[in-house]
Amino acid sequence: MKNIDSKGHVTGKSIYLDDIPTIQGTLFGVIFDSPVAHGHIESIDYSKALALPGIQTILTSKEIPGENQIGGIFPDEELFAEEDVHFQGQPIALILAESEHIAFQARKLIEIKITEKEAIVDPREARKKNQLIFPPRTFSLGNTDSAWSQCAHIFEGQADTNGQEHLYIEMQGAYASPLENGNIRVSSSTQGPTAVQRTIAKVLGMGMHKIEVDVVRLGGGFGGKEDQATPWAVMAALGAHVLKKPVKVVLHRMDDMRMTGKRHPYSSDYKIGLHEDLKILAYEVIFHQNAGAAADLSPAVMERTLFHSTNSYFVPNVKATAYSCKTNLPPNTAFRGFGGPQGMFVIEAALVHAANELGISAHELQKKNLLQDGDEFPYGQIAADVGLTQIWSDMEAKFDIKGAEKRVSDFNSKNSDKKKGFSLQPIAFGISFTKTPMNQARALVHIYSDGSVGVSTGAVEMGQGVNTKMLQIAADMFSIDPSKVRLESTNTTRVANTSPTAASATADLNGKALQNACYALLTRLKKSAADHFGSAASDIQFKDEQVINSGKATDMTWNQLIDQAFLERVCLTENGHYATPIINFDKEKEKGHPFAYHVYGLALTEVTVDCIRGTYEFDSVKIVHDFGESMNLPVDIGQIEGGLVQGIGWMTMEELDYDKKGKLRSNSLSTYKIPDIYSVPKEVLIEALETEGAEQAILKSKAVGEPPLMYGLGAYFAIQNAVRAFNPDAQQTFDAPFTHEKVLMGLYQI
Ligand code: MTE
Ligand code: HPA
Ligand code: MOS
Repeated sequence: MKNIDSKGHVTGKSIYLDDIPTIQGTLFGVIFDSPVAHGHIESIDYSKALALPGIQTILTSKEIPGENQIGGIFPDEELFAEEDVHFQGQPIALILAESEHIAFQARKLIEIKITEKEAIVDPREARKKNQLIFPPRTFSLGNTDSAWSQCAHIFEGQADTNGQEHLYIEMQGAYASPLENGNIRVSSSTQGPTAVQRTIAKVLGMGMHKIEVDVVRLGGGFGGKEDQATPWAVMAALGAHVLKKPVKVVLHRMDDMRMTGKRHPYSSDYKIGLHEDLKILAYEVIFHQNAGAAADLSPAVMERTLFHSTNSYFVPNVKATAYSCKTNLPPNTAFRGFGGPQGMFVIEAALVHAANELGISAHELQKKNLLQDGDEFPYGQIAADVGLTQIWSDMEAKFDIKGAEKRVSDFNSKNSDKKKGFSLQPIAFGISFTKTPMNQARALVHIYSDGSVGVSTGAVEMGQGVNTKMLQIAADMFSIDPSKVRLESTNTTRVANTSPTAASATADLNGKALQNACYALLTRLKKSAADHFGSAASDIQFKDEQVINSGKATDMTWNQLIDQAFLERVCLTENGHYATPIINFDKEKEKGHPFAYHVYGLALTEVTVDCIRGTYEFDSVKIVHDFGESMNLPVDIGQIEGGLVQGIGWMTMEELDYDKKGKLRSNSLSTYKIPDIYSVPKEVLIEALETEGAEQAILKSKAVGEPPLMYGLGAYFAIQNAVRAFNPDAQQTFDAPFTHEKVLMGLYQI
């Protein structure tokens, strides 16, 4: 089935937040934010701004009726800074005006006096000063201390990854309208409607029942709207509450880039020990997560870094420690992979380091150490249905690893001003929110009396195709034409207490809740049909909108049955609930079974480096991916391609740049470059691993949202190989992104 949104998207008819018709009397909000990364506010003079014609008011913490607090995991983040500012771009006030233009003009007239304080931007410096968001955590398996003496080879080093701007096409924003009795309705571009609802209720000092949050779709989220869509929605709601007028707050690109957090940069130290036979015996790693100025989702992100610190390898002795370091950057947040990619990069760097020192290829080491069924992860879960060995041999059979190796070395021996490099990048990504209670969802299904169906779930459509998958499930369960099913907006009054659309688990969780609702409806409908035919409910089936009795077609259609059931006063509405079974995690012991299942895969990346200019082009990326049994291959392949390119961007050209005082220098699209049609690989080939799929995946179709981003890690190591082919003396550094400048330096380093 085609993505149900494709027509709307290409004809420009799909509705986003900014397409909602403006209600008369709407006020537009622009945020006044901190010009410095750390300081004490001495005074603010709003008088000139307030005097501007068209300005309605300026809201600060003083107007907040409830708590000036938006921290989701820890209450450590003010909506509006009161006394101190902790990052450049931190909101201080909301300017409300008749037009956005006037509000922007007013912003220039606000006079603020701040005594600057020393800003910390480096996570290692924060750790030295004991500036931690929360205490460090350690995952361990076996005993590394005693394992070192058995290692034939030990290598130590540092591996760093920079942050990444989400660059969703649709900026952050929300539109709030006051309703009767002090209730408020908010349209929000958020991955977490319930988080928005809960936080508005807290800041306004009222019950969640008074706040309705509605989401039609997002023009991309990528994690950037899991938590950080909330402040703007709270501001809009605060404006609607105080002024009793509709308030719209939509960030402009540079404001969005400056004010919001990004993927966490990490700086890490590793030590890896190998046995004579090249098996990894021990691995120690210390992660320094650059959390920014408040917790946001950093604790959960850091946890996933630890979960994925050994990626797709079995290591019998592991000690992984992570520090969440408090710096004066905007609070960093969820971004596709959620800390996993940062953890994986370090062990990949350690393996490449070891391989280079030993004079072997990294993929030999990788292959030797692939996770097998029955292996224990450092967090206690036992690996099951691991597809990695099969994936590796599929890659050899379908994409000829040896051939690629030969092609690259032949090319390199014949060319002096161009060099090719290649890499293999296996992945193992755990599916489930690592916080077990979040793994639940609900769905509300109405069968209307004409036989058409309305479906609401907690899933937010943000381009990943979840609505298409939900529609497929409902149409399939009832065996009715997809055109009979409508996917409703995501709304907190229809589906309450939702987990955010995140962790790649949305289709699994909401799809299974939807199935449960459909099962319950089918049970009632089968009874109604059985009563009519004088048969047993178990004899009734539905096929192509026709009722089947004991395997034989009847003359009763789906529509007739619904009509009959309604007249019999059968309830045609159902609420389904789903909670993932089996999973658990004990944070005291740092052990458990946190993931419903893992997604596996392998990418073979080939790159050509121009050794005169330092530029590079990706010739191809060939992927063997574990889809389970994909329920919608075109949608899933779209996710693989998008995730891959986003991962390559992070590893290569996307260069997030804060200066020493914590000021964002890469603050617009002219200074922050993301992949475009010219920089994507010339060829992307995707092969599906033949498997049975996982029972806990929706229709055995495994989650696909985040895992492919980690194929992009291979880009870094492929480039590094090409650089070393040109200049064997190039220092081996692991410091992503591998920008063209860094390539040029590496090529001519002596
Ligand atoms: N794909 C598109 N087009 N837009 C997005 O914002 N977000 C990614 C991924 N794919 C995203 C996307 C992220 S971070 C996640 S967690 C998953 O989609 C969430 O959706 P899912 O759970 O339905 O896979
Ligand atoms: N993944 C993504 N988002 C999350 C998670 C997770 O494990 N936990 C909380 N938010
Ligand atoms: Mo995705 S980072 O879990 O929103």
